Amino acid sequence: MVTDRLLARDDGARPWRDAVQEALYGPGGFYRRPEGPAGHFRTSVHASPLFASAVARLLCRVDESLGQPDELVFVDMAAGRGELVTGVLAALPSGVAARTRAYAVEIADRPLALDHRIEWLAEPPKGITGMLFANEWLDNVPVDVVEVDAAGVARLVLVRPDGSERLGEPVGGEAARWLGRWWPPGPEEGLRAEVGLPRDLAWAGAVASVARGLAVAVDYTHLAGARPPFGTLTGFREGRETAPVPDGSCDITAHVALDACALPGARLLTQRDALRALGVTGGRPPLSLATTDPTAYVRALAGAGEAAELTAPGGLGDFGWLVQPVGMPNPLAG
Ligand SMILES: C[S@@+](CC[C@H](N)C(=O)[O-])C[C@H]1O[C@@H](n2cnc3c(N)ncnc32)[C@H](O)[C@@H]1O
Repeated sequence: MVTDRLLARDDGARPWRDAVQEALYGPGGFYRRPEGPAGHFRTSVHASPLFASAVARLLCRVDESLGQPDELVFVDMAAGRGELVTGVLAALPSGVAARTRAYAVEIADRPLALDHRIEWLAEPPKGITGMLFANEWLDNVPVDVVEVDAAGVARLVLVRPDGSERLGEPVGGEAARWLGRWWPPGPEEGLRAEVGLPRDLAWAGAVASVARGLAVAVDYTHLAGARPPFGTLTGFREGRETAPVPDGSCDITAHVALDACALPGARLLTQRDALRALGVTGGRPPLSLATTDPTAYVRALAGAGEAAELTAPGGLGDFGWLVQPVGMPNPLAG
């Protein structure tokens, strides 16, 4: 049967989006493995507990803005092994924590040792009052890749199970319309683009689960006018960047066009600015503390180092925060 998706020929080549969907989330897929994402790369959540503390402070701002509801929901969207939601619960003031209903939304199975207060779901709960926070989710929502051929035509890139590629049909329909609006790949042979439409739709679905409150997506990002000309598709395995091979052996990720995901009323800022607004600063403690309280000095120095990593130019600090209020003012208004 012929469909509008390209069919695998004898060589097993198919569009990147289909290949990555199976490689990451299919039976035996990369994200179903027991070691979880932390076994292969460090997100801000793993880099420092300062990150979860900052998210907890943001949740407190949302709580205030919503008039301290009897039940304040926190959703850790694409939760990995639930590290962020665990850290947020630990960092909340006890009065707020007592009113907080915490969810982890994840394709992988619930970890055995997870705090019993955290509910583990495959989809976000509907109609929440509170905050949904998605750290490094959208970069793992599979996308199609297009490449311009010798005649200047943008074609779907097909990938074989070993990672080798060939070009398929010219891109058309809503994918072509998305590219025209957000990421025209340019006329020269070899230029590439990634069709972010599935991410826009995934994000809109997550935001729709919030009745009142805030939705935040944090990810590697690029913006219109400065898209990478050859795309960003890459792999990660055991802490190292690697060729993206869709065989379930590695993470496969591509930076996110967060400006395309944004819904009306959203604000886009860097992680550096967002964390500074939430009180995470990389300042060193005064040297005098080293003599008056050496333990506090060492602790403060470690904290300063972690804050510096979370806000570093050229690193985590350049991540984008897409902050989407629903029925409340933006708590990170600039
Ligand atoms: C890069 S990891 C990030 C984990 C965690 N948020 C962190 O920052 O450490 C991406 C996670 O998203 C999960 N994921 C991807 N799509 C999902 C979906 N539609 N629903 C729930 N989880 C999803 C994957 O299984 C994986 O655990």
